[in-house]
Amino acid sequence: MRGRKRGNIVVLTGAGISKESGLDTFRDADGLWSRVNLEDVATPEGFARNPKMVHDFYNHRRRELQSDNVRANAAHVALGRLEAEWPDNVLVVTQNIDALHEEGGSKNLIHMHGEMLKARCDLCGAVHDWTGDMDIGTVCPACDAAGGMRPHVVWFGEMPFEMERISRALAQCSLFVSIGTSGNVYPAAGFVQEAIFSARAHTVELNMEPSEGATMFAETVYGPATEVVPAWVERVLEEGF
Ligand code: APR
Repeated sequence: MRGRKRGNIVVLTGAGISKESGLDTFRDADGLWSRVNLEDVATPEGFARNPKMVHDFYNHRRRELQSDNVRANAAHVALGRLEAEWPDNVLVVTQNIDALHEEGGSKNLIHMHGEMLKARCDLCGAVHDWTGDMDIGTVCPACDAAGGMRPHVVWFGEMPFEMERISRALAQCSLFVSIGTSGNVYPAAGFVQEAIFSARAHTVELNMEPSEGATMFAETVYGPATEVVPAWVERVLEEGF
C-alpha cells in the first residue's frame, strides 16, 4: 500500500451485493416487496396472524438460497480479500440474511437482520442451524416443544442484532463503506451519519444508483457490485483511501 490513509473499516452491505448471485433485492422494480406484502411476511403481527404463510415464504427463500446456482460473487470475494489483506480491522455488517459473505471469505461479520440458515425457538430462546423447512408443528431440538419455532431473522418492529458492537465499530472507524443498499431502513440507514459524527470517518457509497442517503457520502461509485466492488478493493489495497 503506497499509503494515503489507513485505519479501521466498517462495510455495510444490503441486498444489491447479492443480486448478481441470483437473489432478489427488496425495493427494485422486480424486488420482493413488489410481489409480497411486507406487513404479511416480515412483521411479528403478520407471523401471529398467519404463521403458515410466513413459514412458507421463508421455506421458499431458504431453499432458493441453498440451490447450486446461488454462489458468492466477485463482490463478496473482494470483501473477503479486503479483510485478509488490509492491515487494520475490517468489519462487514450485513443486512442480508443469506450466507454469501461467509462463502466469500468474510470472517469478521455481523448479520444485523439475522440469518436465513438459522431458526430460533421463541419458547426457550435457543438458536439452531437450520437448512430444512419449518412449520407450525416443528419441534425445538432444545426444549422439545412445538409451536415456538421461527426463522432467526429480524422483522420490522424488532431490534436488529449486535447494535452495541456495531456502534463501537462505527465510533472507531476511519472509513465507512455502504454497498448495495437503498438506505431506506433504519438503523442501518443512519450508520453513515454515525460514522461521520462519531469518528469523522471518510465515507464511500458503492451502489447501482444513488441511495436515499447518497448526498451524505464523500465519495460515490455507481455500477453493478461485481464490477465496482472488486475495482474499489483493489484500489484501496494499493493506495489506501
Ligand atoms: N449491484 C449493486 N447494487 C445493486 C445491484 C447490483 N447488481 N442491484 C441492485 N442494487 C441496489 C439497488 O439500486 C438498491 O439501491 O441495491 C439496493 C437494494 O435496495 P433494497 O432492495 O432496499 O435492499 P436493502 O437496502 O438491503 O434493504 C434493507 O429492507 O426489507 C428490508 O430486511 C430487508 O435487509 C432488508 C432491508
